[in-house]
Amino acid sequence: MPLNLKGRSLDSALNFTTEEINYLLDLSLELKRAKFAGLHTNNRPLVGKNIVIMFQKDSTRTRCSFEVAAADLGASCTYIGPTGSNFGKKESVIDTAKVLGQIYDGIEFRGFKQSDVDALVKYSGIPVWNGLTDAEHPTQMLADYLTFKEHVGDLRGKKIVFSGDIKNNVARSLMIGAAFFGVNIVLCGPKAQWEIVKSGPNHKAVYDACQELFKRNGGSVSFSDNKLEAAKNADAIYTDVWVSLGEDFSLFEPRIQELQSFQVDMAMIKAAKENVIFLHCLPAFHDDQTQFSATIKETLGAKYPVVSTGAMEVTDEVFQSKYNKSIEQAGNRMHTIKAVILATLGY
Ligand code: CP
Ligand code: NVA
Repeated sequence: MPLNLKGRSLDSALNFTTEEINYLLDLSLELKRAKFAGLHTNNRPLVGKNIVIMFQKDSTRTRCSFEVAAADLGASCTYIGPTGSNFGKKESVIDTAKVLGQIYDGIEFRGFKQSDVDALVKYSGIPVWNGLTDAEHPTQMLADYLTFKEHVGDLRGKKIVFSGDIKNNVARSLMIGAAFFGVNIVLCGPKAQWEIVKSGPNHKAVYDACQELFKRNGGSVSFSDNKLEAAKNADAIYTDVWVSLGEDFSLFEPRIQELQSFQVDMAMIKAAKENVIFLHCLPAFHDDQTQFSATIKETLGAKYPVVSTGAMEVTDEVFQSKYNKSIEQAGNRMHTIKAVILATLGY
């Protein structure tokens, strides 16, 4: 059935139906093929459209994907960085939303509160795309499942394990995606976090919505606090940083204590299916080549052997291995973001 998503916002993936999410994934693949065939050069369907991408937190993949996708589609793109506007500081979120709605055709927003995305949707009157909040990362989820699908084919019944900070935005979006695509997801982390995912004040509604989708689409969400058990028969293993953007540096030590037994290492990979893939939304701490991981290595490496090389959520051995598909996953951000912009702004 042809779908028309024109005018819609991707604030939360849960505001879309299973058919609409599948449509966006199919369109992403079409646009990826078209780009690789060079067909995008004589097809600029969004000439004359203007989008703005607003970031309260830094970004490489999301920013670049929006900018390149807009260029490929023929739209102009304005970047506003974390210090580049008075959004929420000297001008209210509501006033900013109304003003941007007068000037632009679409708004990407990366920030802290999901309620800011909701306000942009409500007051701008134009499509708004969530480029990451503390609650969700829906454009990431589309790239995650596009990459997974490219490697395993039909997603239904496949198994993905998220190991680490299972209550964070990326884990939540991965669970939502599993519910849309009929995937069995195992959240592998501390038991206390699993309780938050199932019944925490800002989590329960999402968990319950996913359960409804699992009933309809197949797949499931389950929990493990044993990474080698969780990895059995897995088609994909996924992790994310232990301390997210906007969280304080002082959280690193308690998170290392809490999450060290969930580091993705080669033993975990070897416990999975032979052709398992490793996924990560990136950026990753897999060695000491970042300022943060070098500091962690220096200050906490002796106390916690698991981070003695600077690697945290994934070892460098896994990151450098043939299993790692996170770089092509990052490339898929552009194709999926392009699909979202085109579907919601297209003529
Ligand atoms: N995965 C992701 O959102 O990366 P950036 O923070 O670089 O945008
Ligand atoms: N959970 C991470 C994802 C980064 C893409 C964060 O919010 O910083």
